[in-house]
Amino acid sequence: MQTQIFNVDEKNIDKDITKICAKILKDGGLVAFPTETVYGLGAIATDENAAKKIYAAKGRPSDNPLIIHISNPCDAELYAYTSELYYKLADAFMPGPLTVIMPKRDIIPSTVTGGLDTVALRCPSHPIAKELIKAANVAIAAPSANLSGSPSPTTGDHVISDLNGKIDAIINGGEAEIGLESTIVKIEGESLSLLRPGAITYDALTCVCEDVKIASAVTAALKENERPLSPGMKYRHYAPKSELILLDGNKDDVRAFLINATRTQNCAVLAYTEEIPLLSNEKIIDVGACDDLQTQAKRLFSALREADKLSADRIYAHLPCKDGLGLALYNRMIRAAAHTVFTVTKKDI
Ligand code: TXA
Ligand code: MG
Repeated sequence: MQTQIFNVDEKNIDKDITKICAKILKDGGLVAFPTETVYGLGAIATDENAAKKIYAAKGRPSDNPLIIHISNPCDAELYAYTSELYYKLADAFMPGPLTVIMPKRDIIPSTVTGGLDTVALRCPSHPIAKELIKAANVAIAAPSANLSGSPSPTTGDHVISDLNGKIDAIINGGEAEIGLESTIVKIEGESLSLLRPGAITYDALTCVCEDVKIASAVTAALKENERPLSPGMKYRHYAPKSELILLDGNKDDVRAFLINATRTQNCAVLAYTEEIPLLSNEKIIDVGACDDLQTQAKRLFSALREADKLSADRIYAHLPCKDGLGLALYNRMIRAAAHTVFTVTKKDI
């Protein structure tokens, strides 16, 4: 299949292109598009056959449901049974990087929800995503536009490298602002379950809802036979080809360990900016300053893709803290590392 690639400037959107792409979607095709979190692989949300094409193009297991993208928070009424809490969340965080799970209406085919009777809804703030949904005049189902198991795409080039030749069109709109996928919450009466942390933090959610529970799979591995609240939790995501090892421990000890490792091992390092001058091989990737979580979030998936190209025996990275945006970084990194954490002590230096 020939994939059409369109370059679009988010500050000066060529509406002829979004119209062409909306037509491709309405004809049952697949279009990848930028959002403020990561790129999405879109199909019309009410079109069962188009949804099947998404699973095939990504190599995604059919029980892993898709997120439905709307251009106005009120459109949730058309696809889900909403509640007062939904509108409180919408007022506080939409449009933006928040996905809300609610009971689905029949118009959403069960193929789209992986057989579940709930649907995940999100109203992105990215101007190109908004324009595309408006032009389609119906919700767009879109998982992240990567091959299943590889890091989510934060640039058009990532999408091209994963999906060129497999989908109808790609809108290249530059680098995603946030770089990590949306926060996902499930409404349970007056309470929320946090299923996936993102740029809308736990603390921000608690300003809107007093009772927010963090699902155990956010920070820990699923136990054998444990049924996850979200099907996506059971799959190893964002997995680099080389082994990824997360380093925990005293900051100076970890730094000393890395200095030694880069001298003696064929390793790549996802390093903090301030460490770069201390490390002595060429396989060092700058993920941002130690206390700059936003830059680290923005660069993480690119860094994992880059590290994979370096033919290293292993990749070292810092275990993030779990505060604020750190929880989202922690969640993505422990999954990419298949929960491999090494606590550095003085004897390891
Ligand atoms: O930022 C994002 O959310 C991006 C952009 C494109 O919007 N999308 C994204 O989609 O990350 P995806 O498919 O890669 O991740 C969606 C996650 C999966 O882990 C899936 O299992 C979960 O959402 N999910 C979707 N519908 C669900 C439902 N009804 N119940 C529980 N989990 C659900
Ligand atoms: Mg994904």
